[in-house]
Amino acid sequence: MEGDNKREEGLALLVIMVLAVLSLASLLVAFSYYCYISNKVAKHLKSLSISKNFSSFPFPLPSLLSSNLPQLLRCCFLVKEGKNEEREMVGRGSHAVGGGEAPVVVSERGVQVFTYRQLHAATGGFVKANVVGHGSFGSVYRGVLPDGRKIAVKLMDRPGKQGEEEFKMEVELLTRLRSPYLLGLIGHCSDGGHRLLVYEFMANGGLQEHLYPNSGSCGGISKLNWETRMRIALEAAKGLEYLHEHVAPPVIHRDFKSSNILLDKDFHATVSDFGLAKLGSDKAGGHVSTRVLGTQGYVAPEYALTGHLTTKSDVYSYGVVLLELLTGRVPVDMERPPEERVLVSWALPWLTDREKVTHIMDPALEGQYSGKDAVQVAAIAAMCVQPEAEYRPLMADVVQSLVPLVKNRSTTKACNSSSFHASKSPAKPEYGNSCA
Ligand SMILES: Nc1ncnc2c1ncn2[C@@H]1O[C@H](COP(=O)(O)OP(=O)(O)OP(=O)(O)O)[C@@H](O)[C@H]1O
Ligand SMILES: [Mg+2]
Repeated sequence: MEGDNKREEGLALLVIMVLAVLSLASLLVAFSYYCYISNKVAKHLKSLSISKNFSSFPFPLPSLLSSNLPQLLRCCFLVKEGKNEEREMVGRGSHAVGGGEAPVVVSERGVQVFTYRQLHAATGGFVKANVVGHGSFGSVYRGVLPDGRKIAVKLMDRPGKQGEEEFKMEVELLTRLRSPYLLGLIGHCSDGGHRLLVYEFMANGGLQEHLYPNSGSCGGISKLNWETRMRIALEAAKGLEYLHEHVAPPVIHRDFKSSNILLDKDFHATVSDFGLAKLGSDKAGGHVSTRVLGTQGYVAPEYALTGHLTTKSDVYSYGVVLLELLTGRVPVDMERPPEERVLVSWALPWLTDREKVTHIMDPALEGQYSGKDAVQVAAIAAMCVQPEAEYRPLMADVVQSLVPLVKNRSTTKACNSSSFHASKSPAKPEYGNSCA
């Protein structure tokens, strides 16, 4: 009896020991896995040169690691193609700001961390005279760095969760994505409560300013000619194509509109504002569900109704911009007769009618385009804005269709100011601009 008890006691001890050894082994496995993952993340951060100065990075490292670990790991594999483009853009912002200011952290990808003082100095103390625009993020100021580079500084004026999220998204995406068709981020500032984004200065501002000149005071006629409009359409399409098809997972812009297409001194276009961007689903035809944001008149119907967001939602918004370029009309204009207020509903029936497509064309363009080209662009716009998301084209298809319509694609000075001319014939009042 006593022998039996001793045997059972021995057995129990053995089981406990085996369990202890197993727990120790699993702890060891978990610890090595943790080391492996931290090592990978550290390597990735090092590759972005963020690790050089953690204290200067706008987000505290622990929260960055805990909240963004999956995203960070995904971003290790983000840029799939466009390496040549990357090389073209790297170094654009690699000069340090001098003038005895606090040292600037310059990452290998050319994104700098500024102090508030430096940007205050660069914009002349954020004086009103340097304001170039206002948006939902805050005011935009023109400025000059001590090395002479012209910059646009966006000063966040509404601290809060959403603004903070947009700021992070913009910085995270723009430091990783590089394309000649996306607006380049020169740097950012996260000094105390201040949040600022520093971009290349685009001398000709937003596309909408040129499509609807003096829209506030009525009466302006767009001087953007057909050739330039087509090139802007192509370059903007290439920006979206890059986001949708050259990075993995795809990036959905979510707020594509004419004011987010910026024009440089030669009227070359870049796509801006990724604050609202969302990383798309990896699955073919997949979607991500999200709060409905974006700008009235540009939001795809399925996204507005269900919040289901896919790259095809951007294709719809692109179609609206193409319609703006064709018609010279704003997406929603409450001053027009009811049937003409919403650009898409008004234009759609005309777009597929070869004979009547000229009825919707911007009168400022008269005599500048061939009927064949107009029909072709109208057909592309019609495909993009159709209600069935799955039948909308991919941005790569849009790019392919637009390429033959753009003359002088290879010349960087294809469109200087002298190539802009006003309509030779007087504009018909109903098409003049949004105020006509
Ligand atoms: N990099 C830049 N270079 C020159 N001008 C710029 C630049 N970025 C913005 N702007 C000007 O500032 C204006 C406001 O831009 P911002 O992106 O803040 O607002 P928005 O595009 O009009 O609206 P939203 O906030 O909804 O995107 C633009 O229309 C443009 O004229
Ligand atoms: Mg904008």
